[in-house]
Amino acid sequence: MKSYLQKVKEAVDLLKKHITIPPDIGIMTGTGLGESLESLQITATLDYGQIPNMPQSTVQSHHGRLVIGTIGGRGVIAMQGRFHLYEGYSPLEVTFPIRVMQAMGVHTVILTNAAGGLNLSFKAGDIMVIADHINLTNENPLVGINEDSWGTRFPDMTSVYDPHLVKLVEKAAKAHDISMRKGIYVGLKGPSLETSAETRFLRLIGGDAVGFSTVQEAIAAVHGGMKIMGLSTITNINDPDNPVPDTEEAIIKVAQTASSKISAIIKSIVKDMAEK
Ligand code: HPA
Repeated sequence: MKSYLQKVKEAVDLLKKHITIPPDIGIMTGTGLGESLESLQITATLDYGQIPNMPQSTVQSHHGRLVIGTIGGRGVIAMQGRFHLYEGYSPLEVTFPIRVMQAMGVHTVILTNAAGGLNLSFKAGDIMVIADHINLTNENPLVGINEDSWGTRFPDMTSVYDPHLVKLVEKAAKAHDISMRKGIYVGLKGPSLETSAETRFLRLIGGDAVGFSTVQEAIAAVHGGMKIMGLSTITNINDPDNPVPDTEEAIIKVAQTASSKISAIIKSIVKDMAEK
């Protein structure tokens, strides 16, 4: 049986054949946000099926392709479509793209997602920059023997989402006249949405937004020594006292409408990073 390390290496070897400018920025797009990469100058596109050992995305709203290119002259590798625990993937499968990015030299990852708003001052369509997360998936991609070449056994988690990048996001939002929220993302396994009692609980523990992704990738990226920026599109507001049933269609629609804002922010951030 191939080791996980070997699987990552095979994927990287294939991707390296398509690379012109080595990527130092990785982007992972979430539900309905595949279109948020308008600013990317694409040099190569690969379906996940073309990449050795890459899991296949089973979610309709996720493209399932990897795009290589540049933004403002910087090498970028973007995954349009991620893998979720609720699809039945293991934490190692969910974080496979992060390990591929790490092995390719990516030092900053931008994680985007669609999330439900817990903070009642938020509105559907708002963008929230993630200041921190709470992992309630009961899973962790670092369980098992530690791969020392990737990172330390007990990674520090006190500053997962880079505070400097948070500031850059806020600056970019201001420049583009985009109202930007900042808050705590709670990651659950899903796929069932939250009960009203669960929503009350998530608010009580300090959550501003809730979703079914991102935290596994963030943990692997921290372990891999990468800087992380997280952006949530608030697709619906979960008010336990006035519950409104959520549908996947409505969530995707709001996420798609907000994707141009995400695109503008990403473009601006990458440019700022280049100027640093
Ligand atoms: N809960 C969990 N995930 C989500 C939601 C939600 O309300 N909205 C979009 N993704």
